[in-house]
Amino acid sequence: MNSETPIGIMDSGMGGISVLREITKLMPNENYIFYGDSKNAPYGSRSTQEIYELTSDVVDKMLDRGVKAVVIACNTASSAAGKRLREKYPQLPIIAIEPALKPAVINCPGGTVLVLATEATLREQKFATLMETWKDRAEIIKMPLPGLPEFVERGELDSPELREFLMGYFSKLEGKKIDGIVLGCTHYPFVRKVISELFDNKVKIFDGAAGTARQLRRRLYSRNMINTSMKPGTITWLNSSDDPKMIELSKKLYNLKLD
Ligand code: DGL
Repeated sequence: MNSETPIGIMDSGMGGISVLREITKLMPNENYIFYGDSKNAPYGSRSTQEIYELTSDVVDKMLDRGVKAVVIACNTASSAAGKRLREKYPQLPIIAIEPALKPAVINCPGGTVLVLATEATLREQKFATLMETWKDRAEIIKMPLPGLPEFVERGELDSPELREFLMGYFSKLEGKKIDGIVLGCTHYPFVRKVISELFDNKVKIFDGAAGTARQLRRRLYSRNMINTSMKPGTITWLNSSDDPKMIELSKKLYNLKLD
């Protein structure tokens, strides 16, 4: 291994590209392999064991390509498999993501924070621990959105159907004033604009991508693994789906202008 060895970044599908975007902004000279497991997406309604096995398979595939570190750019996979994978590969830097509840609560003291994530993320111990830490500083409402990653997987980032789907969930809040929203699934930042509009652009929205990118950089520095080359880095796109359109969509989502 040398410092030019790539970093592996994985997700159940396209979502992790929202994390990859932040990582390459911070470290444009590193080389990356992005693996989207779209064939098996969504992970969010699966059992913990199933999510672990799928995540572990993807990590093994990236290790076969000799990655120097792994980013689990999926809240669901991080919650269900992060700890076990660190035990399985104690030498490998494994960076996991978690819902950005901390910044949301700090920025909305005494307010109401809505956490949007998958069923699996919200049921796992990792989230229960996070919630326990912050529950006295704001009202925290958990809301799973099964079906939302599928919109992103087909590149449908705004449509009447998407708005109707989201309204079906948000109407359950019955007009309750929401101060902050946590996008606790890496697919959701691709529909951030629509979510914000459905709350009349009056909510603060948080996600864990930039924090995960900074955490990766810290870990690489501490292990002396940073690529010091001045050459722009490369991204190798991999996807478990046989549909060649998934790689095309991956690149499109990577380059998309989001506000
Ligand atoms: N992108 C994944 C996450 O961050 C979830 C999507 C899925 O259900 O596969 O949780």
